[in-house]
Amino acid sequence: MDKESRVRIFDKQAEMYDRRRGDASQEQFRRGLLRHAKGDVLELAVGAGANFPYYPPQVRVTAADFSGKMLEKAKVAAARYRVDASFLQADIESLQFPEHAFDTIISTLSLCSYDKPHQVVQNMMRWCKPDGQILLMEHGISNNVILSALQKTLNPLLYRMNGCHFTRNMEELVEGAGLQIVHIERHWLSMLYMIRAQPSG
Ligand SMILES: C[S@@+](CC[C@H](N)C(=O)[O-])C[C@H]1O[C@@H](n2cnc3c(N)ncnc32)[C@H](O)[C@@H]1O
Repeated sequence: MDKESRVRIFDKQAEMYDRRRGDASQEQFRRGLLRHAKGDVLELAVGAGANFPYYPPQVRVTAADFSGKMLEKAKVAAARYRVDASFLQADIESLQFPEHAFDTIISTLSLCSYDKPHQVVQNMMRWCKPDGQILLMEHGISNNVILSALQKTLNPLLYRMNGCHFTRNMEELVEGAGLQIVHIERHWLSMLYMIRAQPSG
């Protein structure tokens, strides 16, 4: 699917993501992840700012997304939750930052969307300070045989509808790109991957 079509799909979902900020089913996971955020933070594919209620004070967030409608919602949310944030409307797959620019890099529910997620993870590693951390909450393929078969069957349809792939193994993706996993948990029948990682090497 071309980029313009994907942006349109996510623009259309901005209202829904705005309403679902603070969603009880995700709150504990987002809160648990975001409490590790420190210093200069890069949040990739920020959406409508679903993580903004959970940022600790004193972080400075650079937030990027290619959907203008999502960013409109995220800007309002940043003011509401007093998050010190600046915003970039950009394709994450073409973003450029200097090496070691950020203390924390965050991605929630976005590695499912990229054409080249491996490359995005490698960029996270490059942009993160050597003693920094990468915090991920991603959905992907389940360990459950029946559920994963269903995910594989429905994936082409779901991708056309939502712009997300449902069959990625996020643990393998992250390790394959060279990140060192510090902590991993799986939830929601192992479809949700909660990962804290460090750049390795
Ligand atoms: C499923 S939403 C998740 C939003 C948010 N991170 C959250 O946790 O609710 C995926 C987000 O990724 C953004 N996105 C997908 N592909 C992108 C790309 N290549 N460049 C920039 N943003 C992208 C979409 O616009 C959307 O806001």
